[in-house]
Amino acid sequence: NLPHKVKIVEVGPRDGLQNEREIIPAAVKVALVDRLTAAGFANIEAASFVSPKWVPQMATSAEVMAGIRRRPGVLYSALAPNMQGLEAAHAAGVDEVVIFGAASEAFSQKNINCSIAESVQRFRPVALAAREMGLRLRGSISCAFGCPYQGEVSSDTVADVVGRMRDLGCDEIDIADTIGVGTPRQVQQVMARAAGAFPIAQLSGHFHDTYGQALANIYACLEIGVTTFHSSVAGLGGCPYAKGATGNVATEDVLYMLHGLGIHTGIDLGAVVDAGQFIASHLGRKAASRAGNALAAS
Ligand code: HMG
Ligand code: MG
Repeated sequence: NLPHKVKIVEVGPRDGLQNEREIIPAAVKVALVDRLTAAGFANIEAASFVSPKWVPQMATSAEVMAGIRRRPGVLYSALAPNMQGLEAAHAAGVDEVVIFGAASEAFSQKNINCSIAESVQRFRPVALAAREMGLRLRGSISCAFGCPYQGEVSSDTVADVVGRMRDLGCDEIDIADTIGVGTPRQVQQVMARAAGAFPIAQLSGHFHDTYGQALANIYACLEIGVTTFHSSVAGLGGCPYAKGATGNVATEDVLYMLHGLGIHTGIDLGAVVDAGQFIASHLGRKAASRAGNALAAS
């Protein structure tokens, strides 16, 4: 009994590109976002207002936001870890800000330089101000299925952090497999725990494909009623604070599967394939999307 409709949040311009070593010109990022907008996504994670010392690739985020051609009704999202990030995101005209924590203490320290409890304290004024600014608020929880520094992560901790994000007023909460280690039954179990603390209709699955489990994990989520997923065009990505982690699951592969299952996404797969080939050719390598490459060659 699968859902009839699924929302795909395209995170390629942010999660996909943040780890690229060579600085990508803002104009290329703008062109990518514009192609994704034209492909029909209702939500695109386009930027990240974090410290440029921590993630240099995202330093051009304001320029990217200023350059894109917005389609009315599309949500453009950006990460904002603190008030400085929120103010920059607001000034740049983002529609939704993302506060990002973790279900692993060790990862929280490496990624945002504080404990889980401290991160929630830091997010509180950001969340309040975001509400006052009329912005949509999303919470992201890294390492929900395993951590590169501490190994196992308990589903109790995931559910606890979901509850804290809920109490901060999040409209949507992402359960993220930062290093792509989760497997389908585990994913169902953790998602079910998370759904005990927050409505499943507002939970999303954010899967990296490091161990080749991402599509299976998405299918497992569909079976229990999750209807929002994150993916990156051309399978771009990797987190700078999660060594060895590969990209997000490729959007082309996810769309190919969903459309094959008769699930509506509102997104034009052919246009996404073109966007994937565009950014892969800019980066000088083959896209990491199976369906994308197969369709591009056919
Ligand atoms: P900190 O060093 O503890 O913060 O970093 P600070 O307040 O002491 O600031 C240090 C310097 O950074 C200062 O500059 C600030 O002005 C500047 P200085 O005075 O030294 O010249 N700074 C900023 N600059 C621009 N924008 C800002 C900002 N904030 C401070 N917003 C902080 C704490 C959170 C800022 C830092 O750790 C950081 O930026 N971390 C970001 C890490 C990151 O972006 N990771 C990747 C995204 S998360 C991810 O990919 C996972 C996800 O995809 C889900 C999944 O797959 O798991 C979402
Ligand atoms: Mg990620």
